[in-house]
Amino acid sequence: MEKLEMIQQEGLSKIHACANASELQQLRVLYLGKKGPVQEVMKTMKDLPAEERPAFGQQVNAVKSLLAEAIEKKRAELEQKEMLEKMEEEKIDITLSGYRPSLGTLHPLTVVQQEIEDLFIGLGYTIAEGPEVELDLYNFERANIPQDHPARDMQDTFYINAEELLRTHTTAIQTRQLEAYAPKLPVKVICPGKVYRRDDDDATHSHQFTQIEGLVVGEHITMSDLKGTLEFMAKKMFGEAREIRFRPSYFQFTEPSVEVDVSCHICNGKGCSVCKGTGWIEILGSGMVHPNVLKMAGYDPEKCSGFAFGVGIERVAMLKYGIDDIRHFYTNDIRFLKTFTRFE
Ligand code: DAH
Repeated sequence: MEKLEMIQQEGLSKIHACANASELQQLRVLYLGKKGPVQEVMKTMKDLPAEERPAFGQQVNAVKSLLAEAIEKKRAELEQKEMLEKMEEEKIDITLSGYRPSLGTLHPLTVVQQEIEDLFIGLGYTIAEGPEVELDLYNFERANIPQDHPARDMQDTFYINAEELLRTHTTAIQTRQLEAYAPKLPVKVICPGKVYRRDDDDATHSHQFTQIEGLVVGEHITMSDLKGTLEFMAKKMFGEAREIRFRPSYFQFTEPSVEVDVSCHICNGKGCSVCKGTGWIEILGSGMVHPNVLKMAGYDPEKCSGFAFGVGIERVAMLKYGIDDIRHFYTNDIRFLKTFTRFE
């Protein structure tokens, strides 16, 4: 009994002093397992007189459950302590500023192209594209540009071979669309795309740039339809106060042909450096689709008519955002591109 008492005291103080879970596990094995001091004492029971054995047995069990209880209590204590330490260690300072994920941006040319497309989709047009490596047939022949015309010169056009070239204008998409639609009416398409010219690159020229072609063919389409459409586009792109004017011009694929000016959005038409003092800025070429162009595509020019226009997207973007050099669009300087972030 005395020995039991000692074992109990020693056990309790060891359990009490225990500092971590693995030490505690060792104590559990020692005191509650098959080979510990409690079991040793148990073995001496057979030497006792029979009448003392039950009391002794009860006492052994009491010591065992006391120790088991103490171990369980300690285990819960250690677990709690470990959890608190872990929480302290992994604490997040929610007052620190975080990292903002870096988002890409749409290229300014894409922004302007989509704006123009959206306008015309709202007017019931559909978007059409075509190949950049184009046949001479669609780029020149069907646009009523004859064999010996200077626009076909090697100096202006990147030829691949005698029949193929890099398209020089989106009018090539126009002639393809006409052929695809003929003889159906009406045709209402908007055709964006890259075009190529053998120009030396400088602040206003690039050997590759972007155009959007507009084309409408139907019964009784007149020049006033063209004017109303372009006025709508000018106001949407450069502000409600904008006006447009037509100046006579010449393109092989339109008759009559006009060049279109928009009243200057910087000085409101008073005259400034952007409009070179004139109050007007030239933005695009257009006209009534030439009867030959309609005929070659399979339409009867006696029964229908149409208008077309071609606008340079770089030019619109430069005017709209005050960009002074066309090369900014292609050098991909991230500081320039970030200026056009719409989604932050
Ligand atoms: N294709 C012309 C160019 O590249 C632009 C143009 C002018 C397109 C008049 C047209 C048009 O559709 O009617 O300079």
